[in-house]
Amino acid sequence: MNAHLVSAYQQCFAEPQRSQRRLYEMAKRDQWNSDALPWDRLDFSSLPPPLREALSGLCAHVHYGEVASLLAAARAVEQADDSESRLFASTQVIDEARHVEWFTRLQQKLAPPEPPTVHETVTALVDSVYASSDPDELCLGMQLIVEGLAQTLFQEAARALRGIDRTLCEASPGSQDAPTGPASAAGLLADWLSNYIARDESRHVAFGVVQLGQRLRRLPSSRIDALQAKVVVWGQLLQAIPAAFEPRFATLGIDTLRLAGDCIGDLNLHLRQAGLEVQLAPPTAPYVTSAAAASSPGSTT
Ligand SMILES: [Fe+2]
Ligand SMILES: [Fe+2]
Repeated sequence: MNAHLVSAYQQCFAEPQRSQRRLYEMAKRDQWNSDALPWDRLDFSSLPPPLREALSGLCAHVHYGEVASLLAAARAVEQADDSESRLFASTQVIDEARHVEWFTRLQQKLAPPEPPTVHETVTALVDSVYASSDPDELCLGMQLIVEGLAQTLFQEAARALRGIDRTLCEASPGSQDAPTGPASAAGLLADWLSNYIARDESRHVAFGVVQLGQRLRRLPSSRIDALQAKVVVWGQLLQAIPAAFEPRFATLGIDTLRLAGDCIGDLNLHLRQAGLEVQLAPPTAPYVTSAAAASSPGSTT
């Protein structure tokens, strides 16, 4: 008999892990179908070209991260410590599959002239995390750092899209009532990002905090030190991303310094919740988005 299968089978009858069970029940309850989004109402053809390019470029990079998350989640099913974690990780696979499908369809709607290339700051972080062969490292890098970045970014992107929606509606009164058009499209995207996709990501981060916290209690201090050193390395890669995207963020009306600060602040909170002592310093880069965003097409100010 296969020892791994026997162990996974026997774990089904062990004392349930309550936190993972609760997250699994939430995941089953909150399943959604991207077919429900009225895709035929999404018309970006009259969106100002710089705004459309910035949105498409941002989507391309998120899309790359979602593909990595899907493949990593499939690995996490295999590496799960207990039955409830295995069940939850399985729901994360279908969540990420849905996200990949959603961003693929969105990119098709945005119809960039060429598929945007993925910036090296994003591949540096995502590829490094994805290359982790150690389950604890993969959990730390994917569930806390990459998923956390996605969760924070989606909330900020939704806020920016609502600002774009308002700006376009003011520029063209009545456009929000139209069945198609850039204003209704931006508002729809904002709603789906925050109500569905970001909610999934917050579950994935919560699972990472719980799972990593349990593993840390079983690890020797030398392994914990190695994980904390990895946080510093990945944290530096994470910090490089907002600066590289500053022009796009400014076009979308996203304040890069605030976004970078929120990403680091949220990550530090999740590290503490998992039981790691390492904390990343807040961003100090001389971002200029406040002024740039104020004059951008997507500005809400
Ligand atoms: Fe995702
Ligand atoms: Fe996720």
